[in-house]
Amino acid sequence: MVERELENILGKKSIIELTPIIIKKKDTSDKICYFFDTDDNASPFDINMAYDAGFDVVIPYNNIKADKVTQLVQDAMFSRKASAPTVYFIGGSNVEEANKIAETVLNSLVPPFESPVIIDPRGANTTAAAMVAKTIEVTRKLGWHDISGKKVVILGGTGPVGQIGAILAAKLNCTAVMTSRRADTVKILAKNLTEKAGEGATEIIGAVGITDEQKYNLLKEADIIWSVAKAGVQMVSKELLEKLPNNKIVVDINLVPPYGIEGLKPKFEGDEIIPGIYGIGALGVGRLKYKTESNIFKEASESKGKKIFNYNNAFKLACRILFDEEIQITA
Ligand SMILES: NC(=O)c1ccc[n+]([C@@H]2O[C@H](COP(=O)([O-])OP(=O)(O)OC[C@H]3O[C@@H](n4cnc5c(N)ncnc54)[C@H](OP(=O)(O)O)[C@@H]3O)[C@@H](O)[C@H]2O)c1
Repeated sequence: MVERELENILGKKSIIELTPIIIKKKDTSDKICYFFDTDDNASPFDINMAYDAGFDVVIPYNNIKADKVTQLVQDAMFSRKASAPTVYFIGGSNVEEANKIAETVLNSLVPPFESPVIIDPRGANTTAAAMVAKTIEVTRKLGWHDISGKKVVILGGTGPVGQIGAILAAKLNCTAVMTSRRADTVKILAKNLTEKAGEGATEIIGAVGITDEQKYNLLKEADIIWSVAKAGVQMVSKELLEKLPNNKIVVDINLVPPYGIEGLKPKFEGDEIIPGIYGIGALGVGRLKYKTESNIFKEASESKGKKIFNYNNAFKLACRILFDEEIQITA
C-alpha cells in the first residue's frame, strides 16, 4: 500500500541514489626539517634558508656524529605519518663525517617512512656548484671551447668549498690542483678526493702554496683560479697577479675584506681585473648559491621517498638556473 503511494508520488522509475562523496582531506602535516650538523652550532644560514624555502619547523642538532643518527632518525620517522613531509639536512665543516652521517641516515630509513636527505656541509656543495657554474658562464662569454681539459688551481682548497670544488673540477675532466699550507694533509686529501670523484674523473693534485714564489709557479700555467681560503685571507696580491701570464679566469668567493684576490671586487661578473685576467666575485657566486640551495630545499620538501640531494644535484641545478640546461659530469 505504502509502496504504491510512493510510486504515485515519485513515479515508477524515479530512484533516488545517494552516491557517497569522498572528500580527501589535504595533508596538513607540518613540513619538518631535521638538521644534523657536525659543528658546535648548526649554521643559522641553513636554518634561515630552510624556513624561507617553506619549512614550518627546523630542528637543529649540534655536534652530531654518524653513530648518533640512527636512533634520531628512527624516533623522527616512526612518530609521523609515512606521508608527512620530513627532510633530513646534513651540514657542518667536517665533510667526511657529514658524508658518513648522510649515508647512515639513508640506511636508517625504512619503507614506507622514507624521506629525502640533503647534504651541504657548510654550504660547500651549493657554493662550489655555483662557483663552477659561474666559471663556465664566463668561459662561454670568452669563447673558450669547454672547461674540460683546463687547468684549475684551487687556492686554500682544503676547506669544505675547496674540496667539493676539486671533486667537481675532476668530474669535469679539468686538471685540478688544490693548494694548502700543509704538505702532508693536502696530499692525503687530494688522494681521498680523487677516489670520491670516482671512475672517469681526473686525478686531483695536492700542492703547497705559501710563498708568492710557490704560488706563482702553480698559477702561471693555470687557466682558472678559484680562491677559496678562509674568509678575510688575501691569497693573491695585485703584484703577483700582474706577473702572471694573461688569459685566465679568477674567482674569489671570500666576501670578508681583505678579499682573496687583490683588485677583484665582489660584484665582478667576468670583468677584466687587469688586461686578459677576468674576475668573478663573491656576490654573483653567492646569489647563485642562494637560489640553488633554496631550490633544493623546495624540491626536497615536495619529494616523496628516499632521495639524496648531493653536489651532483647541486651542480645540475645551478646549471639549470644559469643556462637552462644540464651539463654532464662523470657519475
Ligand atoms: N660567496 C659565497 O656564497 C660563499 C658561501 C660559502 C662560503 N664562502 C666563503 O668561501 C670560503 C671558503 O669557505 P670554507 O668554509 O671552505 O673555508 P675554511 O674551511 O674556513 O678555510 C679554507 C682553507 O683556508 C686555509 N687558510 C686558513 N687560514 C689561512 C691563512 N691565514 N692563509 C692561507 N690559507 C689559510 C686553510 O687551509 P690550510 O690550513 O690547508 O692551508 C683552510 O682549510 C670562505 O672565504 C667563505 O667565507 C662564500
